[in-house]
Amino acid sequence: MELTQQLARWAERVERNLDLYLARESNLEPRLLDAMRYALLNGGKRIRPALVYMSCELCGGTPEQADRAAAAIEAIHSYSLVHDDLPAMDDDELRRGRPTCHIAFDEATAILAGDALQCFAFELLSEADSGQDASTQLALMRILATASGARGMVAGQAFDLTHVGKALTLSQLQAMHAHKTGRLITAALLLGATAAGCRDDATLERLERFGDLIGLAFQVKDDLLDIEGDTLTLGKPQGSDVAQNKPTYPALLGLDGARSRLRQLHEDALTALAPFGDRAAALNALATFIVTRDH
Ligand code: IPE
Ligand code: IPE
Ligand code: MG
Ligand code: MG
Ligand code: MG
Repeated sequence: MELTQQLARWAERVERNLDLYLARESNLEPRLLDAMRYALLNGGKRIRPALVYMSCELCGGTPEQADRAAAAIEAIHSYSLVHDDLPAMDDDELRRGRPTCHIAFDEATAILAGDALQCFAFELLSEADSGQDASTQLALMRILATASGARGMVAGQAFDLTHVGKALTLSQLQAMHAHKTGRLITAALLLGATAAGCRDDATLERLERFGDLIGLAFQVKDDLLDIEGDTLTLGKPQGSDVAQNKPTYPALLGLDGARSRLRQLHEDALTALAPFGDRAAALNALATFIVTRDH
């Protein structure tokens, strides 16, 4: 199956599930639920859920085994975007082709919708009817919590904000990108493998290495698109990093330097999965999409 068809298949699946799972949340405050739905069901690329499903499949698991983890990681990612766009952070007004959550609603509602989406993710992983045994559920929660919090995405976001306008070394920039974006991408792969029941260290290590490489590549490409993309295609404001003097790969290495780093990361990522042979075809195609995408 073509990658675009596969991406569409996994996106439809996770969106259907998210819709169903959200319908069970309390309707005490309908505006909060509306903001959560607005942030979540709004046309993201759904790369992280696709990674969960593909990794689960590579490890011999079924889509059903991966459903909660795929929905959970998209909930965390979507919450991170809502908070990233707030005036106190990147102060952006367009996301996924629509006004950002705090523009469509208000700041307090956007903060709370993000908070609630974060809890929603762990609620999904812990549900008794998830089809996973308790020790697998615990492992899934631990992977997602570690990747999301002060050892993962949040640490990267904090570092990003405290280094606006400051000169970074390449290793600081790499560490920032690995945290703010890489950790969740790697977590998606480990979630898929764990949901499939994989406990093989060699497999998990390869997936982790691949995740670290494409995770970094993902943010390098995101930085390049801020310069080379256009707002309509991106669905978010082109030029936002440059306007805010953000620490990015092109800012440090120049456009050519960032592009050649991207090529190297892509090559290394494909090499990391070579031992899997054809079983890694879908993940390889997704890696190529990540470095060649236009949005
Ligand atoms: C954007 O992520 C934020 C970064 C981590 C660079 P995506 O490019 O995956 O955004 P959506 O989910 O498709 O909107
Ligand atoms: C944000 O990075 C990564 C997150 C953890 C949300 P960016 O600030 O570059 O993401 P965009 O460009 O706004 O999507
Ligand atoms: Mg940001
Ligand atoms: Mg941003
Ligand atoms: Mg960006």
